[in-house]
Amino acid sequence: MPELQPYATMKRPLEQERQGIFVAEGTKVVRRLLESHFAVASVVLPEKWLDDFRPLLEARPEQITVYLAEKKFLETLVGFSMFQGVLAVGKIPPPVSIADILQKSPTPRLFVAVDALTNAENLGALVRNCVAFGVQALIVGESSSSPFLRRAVRNSMGTIFQLPVIELAKLGLRHRFKTKPHAIKLTLAECLKELRVRGVRCIAAHPHTDKRILSQADFSGDCCIVFGSEGDGISRAVLESCDEVVAIPMPPTVDSLNVGAAAAVFLYEAARQRAKMG
Ligand SMILES: C[S@@+](CC[C@H](N)C(=O)[O-])C[C@H]1O[C@@H](n2cnc3c(N)ncnc32)[C@H](O)[C@@H]1O
Repeated sequence: MPELQPYATMKRPLEQERQGIFVAEGTKVVRRLLESHFAVASVVLPEKWLDDFRPLLEARPEQITVYLAEKKFLETLVGFSMFQGVLAVGKIPPPVSIADILQKSPTPRLFVAVDALTNAENLGALVRNCVAFGVQALIVGESSSSPFLRRAVRNSMGTIFQLPVIELAKLGLRHRFKTKPHAIKLTLAECLKELRVRGVRCIAAHPHTDKRILSQADFSGDCCIVFGSEGDGISRAVLESCDEVVAIPMPPTVDSLNVGAAAAVFLYEAARQRAKMG
């Protein structure tokens, strides 16, 4: 059935990005998608879940195609085993510019950016932390994975539907841009420079610095906290585009924290300082 094709391409994420769609998986995440302002194309679920989902489906403004399929059939279609067999296809929102985000975010603004973060599970966990601690927008660097990958959406527990996202497309690589129709043409380093021009302090979370530790950092004004990749951390170009570099102090026997854990610690501190001001 061609209508079920998005569910059959779940192992080909670039194809889904090109079509501007993503797949949500599991009852909680699908429920949160249906409660959100995101456009939804279709839902697939076993008949036993239909009554549970009916009120949410009926409350939607758009026409959503609902397929009833048993878990076994879906597992054959998607190519992996699932816990509940409930899936939905949503549409990635159109691109937002930095100017839009600045205009819509009350001060003091709090943004997060990720540089070359490719692990979808970590990206999803980071998104969840962003929403938990009041981040107003996430900037996804040109060499990072999309937060709309199935595993990222699942690990975010659907919080991605509450967080404005700016995805950056690699300049000069036309094919890459074409795969992300919702991306904007700026590198992360350029984007951070633009934020700084507009008064947003860019703070790199970086384990290898003795200049400033987290408890000495000031998150009271507009700021954007930048996190790096699992392997190489933050690239030199991105580090040089930041105003300052801040570390969570660690014993010499530990190289670094997982990026999701580091983001939770940083964002808790930022939220704590801001709550005191309020
Ligand atoms: C697994 S770490 C990267 C480790 C990488 N090998 C490096 O040397 O930078 C992933 C990201 O989490 C954040 N992070 C992890 N531990 C941190 C720490 N102790 N202080 C500040 N940021 C940290 C940084 O943004 C880092 O780029």
